Amino acid sequence: MSDPAPPRAEPAIRVSGVAKTYPSRSGPVEAVAGVSFTVAEGEFVSILGPSGCGKSTLMLMVAGLEAPSRGSLALAGRPVEGPQTRVGLMFQDATLLPWKSVRDNVLFPLRMSGRPMAGATERAGALLALAGLSGFADKRPRELSGGMRQRVALCRALIADPAILLMDEPFSALDAITRDEMVLALGEIVARERKTTLFITHAIREAVFLSDRILVMGRRPATVVAEVAVPFPRPRDPAIEADPAFNALCLDLKDAIHRAMRGPAAAAA
Ligand SMILES: Nc1ncnc2c1ncn2[C@@H]1O[C@H](COP(=O)(O)OP(=O)(O)OP(=O)(O)O)[C@@H](O)[C@H]1O
Ligand SMILES: [Mg+2]
Repeated sequence: MSDPAPPRAEPAIRVSGVAKTYPSRSGPVEAVAGVSFTVAEGEFVSILGPSGCGKSTLMLMVAGLEAPSRGSLALAGRPVEGPQTRVGLMFQDATLLPWKSVRDNVLFPLRMSGRPMAGATERAGALLALAGLSGFADKRPRELSGGMRQRVALCRALIADPAILLMDEPFSALDAITRDEMVLALGEIVARERKTTLFITHAIREAVFLSDRILVMGRRPATVVAEVAVPFPRPRDPAIEADPAFNALCLDLKDAIHRAMRGPAAAAA
């Protein structure tokens, strides 16, 4: 008799037939319509799509901060039924607490979840050093530049060592040079620590540089209209941007996004 098949591991993120309709004064707004995808453990998946198509709504549902109107979500097989403490979150704005020091901002998720703090101050110090912020732990957020604040937010997302990172346009407010540095640092951290990452961006090259797979969403209400695999091993060297295969992928994606913006029929063509 042959051995039974090994149990199949649940994906780190499973989104099944998820839809979201917001109530509004002018009637219901359908933000997301029937989205399904999975992200494997350790995989880096980006979502690209036109403004207002429902990407942030989708991410809030994965984090358990918004409930879906239809469908279901699960992290490592466990249903998402409320705010998830197992994920590290990062948004477009750093959303730091202005009255707390940089160190206390980084430690905040641990304090909120009531998890043991032993060694936490050292870990915060190590993360801040990694982010080039040694010497800033006792400063207040207002004493930092926008790029530095965003790096504090990255340290905060990593402090509890979450297996899953959810990032909603985390670098879009940064200048081009700081942004390149942050993208490189993120690519190295997530590859080294095998984080599962769901990353929302408008920047095609950033998505191709970081991702194993890219999902393109169409106009609101959002559905996934295209999926592109990025075959290069991670972490990647910035020199890869000169590779013709890298640039061909960027062009394919640009095309897919333009089709998505014209509507679902064009995207499917
Ligand atoms: N809390 C809310 N209440 C009502 N409508 C909302 C709410 N949040 C988002 N929406 C609407 O849902 C739609 C999708 O918004 P969402 O923020 O998810 O888009 P997005 O793809 O993240 O856009 P962007 O790329 O500009 O960040 C928009 O029409 C928006 O107005
Ligand atoms: Mg958004």
